[in-house]
Amino acid sequence: MVMEDFPRQAITLTQTDGSQVGKTTSDAISKIPIQFAFLVDPAAPSCSEGVYLPTFLLPTPEHGAQFNIPVNQALKINITSVATQSEITGLLYSGPYNVVKSSLGSGSFSLTWRPSASEDGQSHPICFIVQASDLC
Ligand SMILES: *[C@@H]1O[C@H](CO)[C@@H](O)[C@H](O)[C@H]1NC(C)=O
Repeated sequence: MVMEDFPRQAITLTQTDGSQVGKTTSDAISKIPIQFAFLVDPAAPSCSEGVYLPTFLLPTPEHGAQFNIPVNQALKINITSVATQSEITGLLYSGPYNVVKSSLGSGSFSLTWRPSASEDGQSHPICFIVQASDLC
């Protein structure tokens, strides 16, 4: 797959040497190849959340929850998950580079983020999932 970046309107880019190049909405500004690898697991015996597939419990934030946090103050997102027929093995997440994960055991995790001054005024998505393994 190739990811391309297009301008929303015609723009003129000025290089550091002063030369200029015009880009229309059908000209890619940049292109980068992306590779994906898929690992296919056996089918889960049930897709009901909380049985083989984990489900989130409070105080895990709702999907789409928003937090406002001042610069240099820590936001701690508390995450709790359960699955009766499998073992919670980990938390995968994406977000700002300075998010720190803690594994608290028994399906509990926390993600702590302390926004820096350079992140002030911005909106940063943080996404996470939990992974579980079959108990057998
Ligand atoms: C997470 O738990 C801590 C206490 O351990 C609490 O101070 C903090 O407010 C909680 N985070 C959220 C986003 O509710």
